[in-house]
Amino acid sequence: MSRGLFTNSDILSISQFDQNTLTRLFKATNRVIQLIKNNKCSNVLKGSAIALLFFEPSTRTHNSFSSAAQRLGAGVIGIQDTSLTSMNKGESFEDTIRMIDGYSDLIVIRHPEAGSAQRAATVADAPVINAGDGGNEHPTQGLLDLFTIHQKFKRLDNLIVVTGPDPLHSRTIRSLLTGLSLFKNNIVYLLSSKDLRLDADFKKEVISRGLKIVEIEDISDIPNNAHIWYWNRFQKERFAQEMDYKNSMSLYRITNQLLALKGNKNMIIMDPLPRIDEIAEEVDIDPRAYYFQQAKNGLYIRMALLALILNRI
Ligand code: NCD
Repeated sequence: MSRGLFTNSDILSISQFDQNTLTRLFKATNRVIQLIKNNKCSNVLKGSAIALLFFEPSTRTHNSFSSAAQRLGAGVIGIQDTSLTSMNKGESFEDTIRMIDGYSDLIVIRHPEAGSAQRAATVADAPVINAGDGGNEHPTQGLLDLFTIHQKFKRLDNLIVVTGPDPLHSRTIRSLLTGLSLFKNNIVYLLSSKDLRLDADFKKEVISRGLKIVEIEDISDIPNNAHIWYWNRFQKERFAQEMDYKNSMSLYRITNQLLALKGNKNMIIMDPLPRIDEIAEEVDIDPRAYYFQQAKNGLYIRMALLALILNRI
């Protein structure tokens, strides 16, 4: 089993993972859940410093990494408001990373530009975790999504998934598709308007790995036997130009009515959050609404990743 992926490694893309490394990560995650229950995790990363560099807004990813580091006994340094850093005086991204590299054992970075985590990893000696680089990838979200699916269905193959409504701009949908493409017989229905479809190159890549993709535009084409509905808000900050998505917003919203029409009793509803208006609040009390559990799993997956990368679990 490739222990190598974790120890001191950068985690830049979910495509670095395979079935063995995912199994290892999930085992470590379940171990972490036990350690938390037994109140025994506070020494795992004692004496380490984790840097959280967030150049883009975040609630869950930032706080779950911060909580993960602190629960394992590490200290946390970082940036959340660039106006308070020397980048505001004109310091380059690379120099900022070099400085932080000297102060920390591991760097977590979120940045609006695709490829920025790779740029950071090129200059840093410390391992770098990509916490979202523009519209490109969000590997730790993909990992916690796969963990959540596995927790519910005990498998990651032979699944029918429906995603909506902005596959073109959603890095979490891209990372999920890449993750699902590692396993056999998965079918993903991408529900969106034509102008928000996945870009052709990415689509080709996941299809070549064996993922079956069906692009649908109308809710009447949602299959009744899906295991997962995975919705994510319209990523309007990534739209190249103003697009009129207001119409799609009401067309593709998950409501009790849509669930009654197209849902089934064993499915789950996932959303990386923040939820804006893609899922009606009335759905929250439905036992199939899994998004808050999903967000909680982010803490456990990130604890396991930090401990594995720093070789302490
Ligand atoms: C996602 C992101 O940042 O891509 N949020 C998250 O990390 N949970 C989804 C989003 O912003 O819509």
